[in-house]
Amino acid sequence: MSLRSQVLDWLSKNVPPARVQHILGVEQMALRLADHYQVDPCQAQTAALMHDLAKYFPSQRLLEWARAEPIPLDPILEQYPHLIHADVSALVARTEFGIEEAEILQAIAHHTLGSPGMTSLSCIVFLADTLESGRGQTPELNRLRQVSFENLHRAVWQTCDYTLQYLIQTGRTIHPRVISTRNWALAMARDDSHG
Ligand SMILES: [Fe+2]
Ligand SMILES: [Fe+2]
Repeated sequence: MSLRSQVLDWLSKNVPPARVQHILGVEQMALRLADHYQVDPCQAQTAALMHDLAKYFPSQRLLEWARAEPIPLDPILEQYPHLIHADVSALVARTEFGIEEAEILQAIAHHTLGSPGMTSLSCIVFLADTLESGRGQTPELNRLRQVSFENLHRAVWQTCDYTLQYLIQTGRTIHPRVISTRNWALAMARDDSHG
């Protein structure tokens, strides 16, 4: 059985069907972006398929994984353990599917909050997670999809802004790493445009 089939089989037992559809949407967009930016398509596909493995783990289980590894925690992550599902998904990718490539594991771990200095592969999975077609067809999302095929860093910056605006409008807690990711991507986009 191919790795892809194994992952889809595992997902069918561990996440609801709507989430599998999201994951397939992320896979499709990550493959298109990888092709566009000449990033290894196998790595992009694997990271995309595995990015939400731990999405439905209960908070207690996420915290147990985090403490065992250990994944560095902070007060916000302790208060909202759901945010750790990205890091824990990378651990599940390693233990359940034998993924050892650091680039893939990092792209999975960074899909929710991003990380300053992240690789093109990580940028691609980060963007695909927020912008895959199942997320909706609003003018703002369609504009961000277009930007993601024009400049990777500008797209990460503006996708962080989109997420931050949503978090502010809905009165949610903001993890400071989203802001660090946003500031990094903004600076990189400026470098890109000044050659
Ligand atoms: Fe996720
Ligand atoms: Fe996701």
